[in-house]
Amino acid sequence: MKLFLSATILSLASAAAVQKHGTVQQLATFPGFAENIAVRHNGHILVTSLSTPSIHYLNPARPNKTTLLQPIPGANGVSGIVELQKDIFAVAAGIWNTTARRETNASVWTVDFRHSSAHPTLRKIVNIPETTVLNGLTSIPGTSIVLASDSAVGAIYAINVKKHTHSIAIQDSVLAPTGPTPNLGVNGIKVHKSNLYFANSGTGVFGRFPITRSGKPTGPAETVSQFSGSVDSAIDDFVIDEHGNAYISFHPNTVFKVDSHSKQKVIVSGAQQIRDPTSVALGRGSKKGRKALYASVNILADPTVGGVDAIYL
Ligand SMILES: *[C@@H]1O[C@H](CO)[C@@H](O)[C@H](O)[C@H]1NC(C)=O
Ligand SMILES: *[C@@H]1O[C@H](CO)[C@@H](O)[C@H](O)[C@H]1NC(C)=O
Ligand SMILES: *[C@@H]1O[C@H](CO)[C@@H](O)[C@H](O)[C@H]1NC(C)=O
Repeated sequence: MKLFLSATILSLASAAAVQKHGTVQQLATFPGFAENIAVRHNGHILVTSLSTPSIHYLNPARPNKTTLLQPIPGANGVSGIVELQKDIFAVAAGIWNTTARRETNASVWTVDFRHSSAHPTLRKIVNIPETTVLNGLTSIPGTSIVLASDSAVGAIYAINVKKHTHSIAIQDSVLAPTGPTPNLGVNGIKVHKSNLYFANSGTGVFGRFPITRSGKPTGPAETVSQFSGSVDSAIDDFVIDEHGNAYISFHPNTVFKVDSHSKQKVIVSGAQQIRDPTSVALGRGSKKGRKALYASVNILADPTVGGVDAIYL
């Protein structure tokens, strides 16, 4: 009861113009399993879904006014998303079986907003037919390389956006799942400085590899922080800010912070606080946007409904 009351007070407070630290606002609810999230330089939010080939587009100043961009050909769902340069993003698309948490016909595309926000230009970079779970995406700054996690075999693909090529850059047991389908190993990945950070949903390891500018490891993986790992209680995708703080989504209802000294802290937790987060992204654009951490979220009881929750830090 006390929890419920404080949750109500928090959500009222979050609706007011002045945002308090750690308050949560439900920004949008829409049909489809929300998988991943990215933010444009203007603060507008892009959400991918495993149950629609179209990216959900949301201006956070207009809550619940989500629109769908045009579908990516030959796909029924989209997983990872990363900004490559201002107004150009890469996404991973494929034909998903969300029960098995596996896909066929995986491909990576660029989504270019330079000429239109409502109808961006889609270009296929590569097909990766051999993968069964292309999950998180990240890019290596100053290069043409996008890295993509494969949650089934425990590998990282390096994709050259200019050359339209792909190959496995890292394959390591620390990235592997702990069992067969629907288990997932490496999930979210992010490049920060000269490290590739990863979250292994199966083992609960949040770790990092030192890498070259082509994505090859220059040493073994190091565990940064250990979480529990099970199918229902697990780390998923994450973001790292300029100070090296990682914000990590954790199923079913928590967002953790792991600071640059590996200290774990709960940012928000509990079903009354936040819907089930799959990924998080740092807000941009307006002053209010820059204080927000946006989470792509779902409702456990109804996997056909997804959304976006804003956490004001
Ligand atoms: C968005 O819609 C949901 C469900 O209809 C509602 O609970 C929520 O308050 C709305 N969010 C805003 C910010 O209006
Ligand atoms: C998926 O891949 C299979 C095998 O390569 C191919 O036959 C099929 O046409 C592809 N489906 C789509 C929708 O592209
Ligand atoms: C999806 O995967 C489930 C579980 O492995 C399987 O039973 C089902 O037949 C698959 N669906 C399709 C459309 O392949």
